[in-house]
Amino acid sequence: MALTDSFIDPAEQALAKEFLDNGYVVKDVDDRAALDAMRAEIVRLACEHRGDVVPDDHDGFLNTLHERVAITEINPLRLHVFNGLNQHAWCRPTYLKLARSVIDAVVGNELAMQNKVNLSIQMPRDETSTLAVHADVWSAETPFEVVEWTPLVDVYDTKAMYILPPAANRTVRERMSHMPDGGKTFDLFAAYKDDFQWIAVPYGKTLVFSPILLHGNVRNDTDETRWSLNCRLTGLFTPYTSEEKCLGRFYTPITPKVASRVGMNFKPPEGFDG
Ligand SMILES: [Fe+2]
Repeated sequence: MALTDSFIDPAEQALAKEFLDNGYVVKDVDDRAALDAMRAEIVRLACEHRGDVVPDDHDGFLNTLHERVAITEINPLRLHVFNGLNQHAWCRPTYLKLARSVIDAVVGNELAMQNKVNLSIQMPRDETSTLAVHADVWSAETPFEVVEWTPLVDVYDTKAMYILPPAANRTVRERMSHMPDGGKTFDLFAAYKDDFQWIAVPYGKTLVFSPILLHGNVRNDTDETRWSLNCRLTGLFTPYTSEEKCLGRFYTPITPKVASRVGMNFKPPEGFDG
């Protein structure tokens, strides 16, 4: 039928429901060749740092990094790869391209993107690279943002990250407000241990989640190294909650439409501004 009573596409509505119910969606990347090419460059940069020959088996190389690299050597290697990756003009456009259809449906098509694509590496039994339970909005990030989180190897069990589903997350504030110290000593991980969802994401898929929800990771007790990329996206015209994490500092406008550009540059004629 040509007529419609809805402004929203049914597929987008279904995705929105999934995001609201779970706090995240996991989908195939939109461009697998782009992910493979990005991963190949990450492997090349890691080999460059160590003076290794670049292997053909990228998956095996990344998963078994801990067999060749000590925990104390991991951060210099990570920084070398992170800097090399972010120096490429294609880094952020290609990263967005991996999840463009989900981001378009969940956030919008006029976007601001975090200035860098972050890289995390968690080797088995490395206590130093765990990320304690937190919500990004607690460190002054905008509640309008989502995180595009993409593993470079299969992640599962403790090799994956965890998130607190929205229904349980809605009880956090209330429970903390009843604590005598306002929640400063509240052990969030212990309190919600049974509620966290560990999100298995095979290589080739991307996870888009709301960092309003409590999330983090624990010591990787699998026998494989975890590698993942993440970057934050928000609507271009959403508000920001801090001077530090705002447009121009933490985020860059990336996809303004022409009408918005015209509007932003418009200056009313003299005498018409009152
Ligand atoms: Fe986070």
